[in-house]
Amino acid sequence: MPCTYLLLLFLFPLSACAKNNKAFIIIKGNQTILSSQSIFRLGFFTPSTNGSSSNWYLGIWYASSPNPVYVWVANRNRPVSDPDSSTTLQLTSTGYLILNTSRDGVVWRTENENPATGFRFSGSGNLILTGEYDSSPVWQSFQNPTDTWLPGMNVTRQTSFTSWRTPSDPSPGLYSLGLGPGFNEFQLLHNETTPYWSTGNWTGDSFVGVPEMTVPYIYTFSFLNPYTPAASFKYIVTPSSDSSPRLSRFVVDSNGQLKQWAWEPQGQFWNMFWLQPEDQCRVHALCGPLGFCSSKTLEPCACIRGFLPKNAAAWGSTDYSDGCRREYDGCDGRDAFEAVGDLRYDGVVETSRLEQASKSVCEKRCLGNCSCVGFYYNGKSNLCRILLESPMNIKNSSSWTGTTDDVLYIRDRIKNSSKRSVSRGVIILCGVVGSISVLGSTLFALLILLRRSKKTKREEGDGFAVSNLKVFSFKELHKATNGFSEKLGHGGFGAVFKGTLHDGTSTSVAVKRLERPGSGEGEFRAEVCTIGNIQHVNLVRLRGFCSENLHRLLVYDYMPNGSLSSYLSRTSPELLSWETRFRIALGTAKGIAYLHEGCRDCIIHCDIKPENILLDSDYNAKVSDFGLAKLVGRDFSRVLATMRGTWGYVAPEWISGLPITTKADVYSFGMTLLELIGGRRNVVSDTPGGEKDEKEPEKWFFPPWAAREIIQGNVDLVVDSRLNGEYNNEEATRMATVAIWCIQDNEEIRPAMGTVVKMLEGVVEVTVPPPPKLIQALVSGDSYIGVGNGLSGTSCSEGRGCSDLLTGLSSPTGSRSSFGGKIPPSP
Ligand SMILES: *[C@@H]1O[C@H](CO)[C@@H](O)[C@H](O)[C@H]1NC(C)=O
Ligand SMILES: *[C@@H]1O[C@H](CO)[C@@H](O)[C@H](O)[C@H]1NC(C)=O
Ligand SMILES: *[C@@H]1O[C@H](CO)[C@@H](O)[C@H](O)[C@H]1NC(C)=O
Ligand SMILES: *[C@@H]1O[C@H](CO)[C@@H](O)[C@H](O)[C@H]1NC(C)=O
Ligand SMILES: *[C@@H]1O[C@H](CO)[C@@H](O)[C@H](O)[C@H]1NC(C)=O
Ligand SMILES: *[C@@H]1O[C@H](CO)[C@@H](O)[C@H](O)[C@H]1NC(C)=O
Ligand SMILES: *[C@@H]1O[C@H](CO)[C@@H](O)[C@H](O)[C@H]1NC(C)=O
Ligand SMILES: *[C@@H]1O[C@H](CO)[C@@H](O)[C@H](O)[C@H]1NC(C)=O
Ligand SMILES: *[C@@H]1O[C@H](CO)[C@@H](O)[C@H](O)[C@H]1NC(C)=O
Repeated sequence: MPCTYLLLLFLFPLSACAKNNKAFIIIKGNQTILSSQSIFRLGFFTPSTNGSSSNWYLGIWYASSPNPVYVWVANRNRPVSDPDSSTTLQLTSTGYLILNTSRDGVVWRTENENPATGFRFSGSGNLILTGEYDSSPVWQSFQNPTDTWLPGMNVTRQTSFTSWRTPSDPSPGLYSLGLGPGFNEFQLLHNETTPYWSTGNWTGDSFVGVPEMTVPYIYTFSFLNPYTPAASFKYIVTPSSDSSPRLSRFVVDSNGQLKQWAWEPQGQFWNMFWLQPEDQCRVHALCGPLGFCSSKTLEPCACIRGFLPKNAAAWGSTDYSDGCRREYDGCDGRDAFEAVGDLRYDGVVETSRLEQASKSVCEKRCLGNCSCVGFYYNGKSNLCRILLESPMNIKNSSSWTGTTDDVLYIRDRIKNSSKRSVSRGVIILCGVVGSISVLGSTLFALLILLRRSKKTKREEGDGFAVSNLKVFSFKELHKATNGFSEKLGHGGFGAVFKGTLHDGTSTSVAVKRLERPGSGEGEFRAEVCTIGNIQHVNLVRLRGFCSENLHRLLVYDYMPNGSLSSYLSRTSPELLSWETRFRIALGTAKGIAYLHEGCRDCIIHCDIKPENILLDSDYNAKVSDFGLAKLVGRDFSRVLATMRGTWGYVAPEWISGLPITTKADVYSFGMTLLELIGGRRNVVSDTPGGEKDEKEPEKWFFPPWAAREIIQGNVDLVVDSRLNGEYNNEEATRMATVAIWCIQDNEEIRPAMGTVVKMLEGVVEVTVPPPPKLIQALVSGDSYIGVGNGLSGTSCSEGRGCSDLLTGLSSPTGSRSSFGGKIPPSP
């Protein structure tokens, strides 16, 4: 049958075959076909990460991506067991596309109204069935999407993107994205009913809640007939200059977040540059009934004391929707109550109020009804609210407003159980010690794995040296850090602990435990060696590493004065002198310049911010965390996670999905310089007390105002007022002007890092820069939740109108900036 030869053609006229009234087989068993331009592949796949799954699906994925990324799945609900040559995708003689297996018969079929006689698989990833007389589509995969929204997909009111159940289970999950009822916004829905995030209304060029859409780069969005049932929305991506297509996708992920990814051809990784809601705990019912959500931990969900995941296996595969159950079943007099603190929940749960009741009356009432799961009791007002249904969206109240006198008491038989802390899901990859017995049963598998790993022999002796790096054993580092007891901080790649080497030198070190290391042993070593060879006086030195079984640890020189960020808070006890600040600025610039220009391979740091600038005993700047992005499996989502709340350091091209160059670091450095000059964070979010109003966050962003004042020559207003004028005027002007050059919208205008060093040193003249315009658009919306409270009134006390000052530079895009007009409370 010569038809098979035509399979790879862009347009495949099947009429010849179909006219014979015979079914035409498109794919048989393990065959795949490529789209035009060879960008996508259609075939059977199994999504299991452990390789032993017998669930196979027909799907479309990127042909070139090293880790398979699936953009469409046909038989989501009915997987096929291991496809053999009798498993076929065929166009039937009656004009439908079917998936036929010998064991289960037809497991999937298209529902086209008109019969198809041909098909094509376009370069945009669309599988199209065409009708008999012309090639107009009778069915398209683009109109029946799964969880992925590709460029060119026309989204109408019928379109819904539904998440996978878990990252390895394509069956429909609980979260979906679609047009809202007014046909003027996009909503994320839980269980197709409860909206928990929306883009806000369409304004003509963007959505109210997504002003960054208007950042003029490679994405073009078009919304036809908004506000009418005929509304259709799509986006396209301009090809790169060599006309190769840019790969980009929006995905509703299994935990309910909408993520936008773009392929970085240079780095060969998927860059996630946008996501909503940024706080995972805003995803409705993520942790299920009685599940506790925290956005500060790697795994968002946990069960509170006395509770266990209801479905441990699902929980282990990150499907938390079943929530938690009481550890001991039954409902009888042996139940007791334990205060779990000021936890709160979202939404409505049936409660019954008891006014002026004592706590024991409250307890009795709850014990008398098996549906009662606990109660809130306010000791001041003697008000008691009995919870008669399991609440969803339980969160720590530190992110809530309202009284803190209410204490949540949860019912359980926990009086005689040993003291337990919040039991988490699977979070520990490295160094599980001691506490394992109190962890949930989901950890059993891991425990066995760890036990086994302890028995297996280490491949290398303790002193084996790779280049100038020392290879440490896990035991050694466990001892050095005293069982990982003194945590110095937590970055995007893992926690950092203080340690002392017991090698006779008693050297202090910082040990970084990598979370979810993505790469294999060999790759890890190769990358570590690369990092180990990068040495510069302004870079933190890597001393060695540990790579044993699941453990991946890096050992660095310890920096006694901590990170720059701890000196930037208005409440920090120590004030850095101007001389120190200038030295830090110059040192940091030199460190980054070395990464960009001094090493054999150019290294883009990607996460320059005060947290990653460490200070040695003489307050010399040392840049940390470079080169690590590659170690975590080329998946920048980890980096992105650290940027939560620090979006202000991210260059506009990064957010637009353009390839990242060294100029992205220059931008972040500029933002950092502003903080160093002003002695403040660009957005104050760490207010004392930690109270913040999630519904109406106050946002106040320093850079737009600072940029305007600097350009107008009022550097003195920007410099930290706590210095009382004790600073070098000329240096301050230079540093401030360099900062504004660094945060230019157009990366080509930003100076290279080597030039920045020369500018700071005064070797190169620094002229007045043009005003950067995009800073506001980039930090609006949910991406930036700062709290106005606690801002020093430098600006206000100068007698300027605050609202005038807050609108700062007008946003060029005309988009609404959600912090514009907000007046920060005076200190
Ligand atoms: C495809 O399956 C056939 C047998 O059905 C087998 O001989 C062949 O090696 C398989 N090809 C691949 C690439 O797995
Ligand atoms: C592998 O995955 C399958 C299905 O996803 C599961 O049933 C099986 O238990 C897993 N095996 C291991 C060793 O995790
Ligand atoms: C499906 O395949 C089986 C054999 O594997 C065949 O008997 C059956 O007729 C096919 N069904 C359709 C609808 O083509
Ligand atoms: C999207 O589809 C609708 C209905 O099928 C059509 O009217 C509209 O023109 C399409 N929009 C685009 C941008 O192709
Ligand atoms: C959005 O548009 C709808 C009309 O479709 C209107 O009722 C609603 O108030 C608008 N919301 C906002 C926040 O402007
Ligand atoms: C989703 O909705 C259906 C019907 O409205 C309901 O039966 C089901 O329990 C809901 N599932 C969850 C997890 O809320
Ligand atoms: C428990 O409370 C529910 C909800 O108010 C009520 O319907 C039920 O009858 C109560 N059960 C008992 C045993 O009181
Ligand atoms: C809630 O947050 C406070 C302050 O951040 C913290 O001390 C407390 O341990 C948290 N509670 C839980 C259950 O995580
Ligand atoms: C708690 O007490 C009950 C009954 O007194 C007993 O059966 C159970 O084993 C105890 N649980 C623990 C963890 O001690």
